[in-house]
Amino acid sequence: MISILGAAPLLRFDENGIWPRIEVEEREAVNRALEAGILYSGLGGPEVTQLERTYHRSYPLRISVATSSCTAALHLAAEICCFFPGEVIVPALTFSGTTHPFAQAGYDLVFADVDRRTFNLCPEALEAAITPNTVGIVPVHLHGLPADMSRIMELSEKRGLWVVEDACQAHGATINGVEVGNFGEVACFSFSSSKPITGGQGGMMVIGEADMAMRAIQLRSYGEDVGAFNETRTYVSHAIGYNYMLDELSAALINAMLPKLARYNSRAQHNARILGTELSECVGLTVPFVPAGFTHIYHKYRLVFDPAQFPSGFRTLFYKALQAENVPVSYWQFVPVPHYPVFQDTGAYPNTEFVLANSIIIGDERNPGSCAIQVRL
Ligand SMILES: Cc1ncc(COP(=O)(O)O)c(C=O)c1O
Repeated sequence: MISILGAAPLLRFDENGIWPRIEVEEREAVNRALEAGILYSGLGGPEVTQLERTYHRSYPLRISVATSSCTAALHLAAEICCFFPGEVIVPALTFSGTTHPFAQAGYDLVFADVDRRTFNLCPEALEAAITPNTVGIVPVHLHGLPADMSRIMELSEKRGLWVVEDACQAHGATINGVEVGNFGEVACFSFSSSKPITGGQGGMMVIGEADMAMRAIQLRSYGEDVGAFNETRTYVSHAIGYNYMLDELSAALINAMLPKLARYNSRAQHNARILGTELSECVGLTVPFVPAGFTHIYHKYRLVFDPAQFPSGFRTLFYKALQAENVPVSYWQFVPVPHYPVFQDTGAYPNTEFVLANSIIIGDERNPGSCAIQVRL
């Protein structure tokens, strides 16, 4: 018998499954930062500096710039990419945080549909969305699967467009062994509380060009020319900037978690393999697709139903049945981002609409990969 019909839930609530996982290293790191007594510096304190150095080791050809959130990182990216904003293409299936920074920086947002299997920007839809006014593309590595960067970079080079990768959900995901963050002019990561590595809040930019990185660093702190933490601050603004510096406690937490990323990712991948093997035997269910040469880190595990195989209302019933078994489930959005009232875009995005109407996310937003950690079907 199943729980929705009155049986005991299949799964116990698992305290270890709660995300973020705060272990002894995280507590020690935050205590270390508290004892150092520096909670914030507009120049970046020791923890922020350490975090930027760690990212620099992973992206040796790029400059790492820590920020207070990924939204802040994307805003800086929007500002440093182009002085004359035109149209920027974003996927119709993403979190709205991808879009606002570009609108705020004065760009016109143009949405393109996603691929039904990868949930990432569909290269054909992307190409069709390019106009003479297009200046940039913002591919999102949604749910932890890299977007099709070889096709996107090929198009961007052909059409002279810049690319900002929204890598918020995909820390450590790769294409042919190359980590996301290495493709576009700029890539932005999030450390908000649901992400694979978290500081509560926080973001990271990795930037290919030194001039662009210098401008991002300047804009991050009120347009000031800032030096290293222990140098004297000038307080002189050269541009209209922001207060987008990451704080020390968040940086300390992220520093403690980063060494665990590979372990967290491989556990999610291991468990996703178990789920995938079991679920792909069920007629009408499609498990996440991973193109050859790509790695997926399963920040979210989206399961798609074939509506022709199930009676109407099946998705809701299945959702409730999983909830009753204590399996974490969510929908993670209901309509394409362009259909939000703020964007007033009534265009058709059939793949995005299909995916959002016929899928659920197994696993809790607070606990990336928890589907895989907790569920044994
Ligand atoms: C795809 C995507 N883009 C942007 C953001 C914004 O990141 P942050 O919350 O760090 O500002 C998020 C997550 O929150 C996200 O999932």
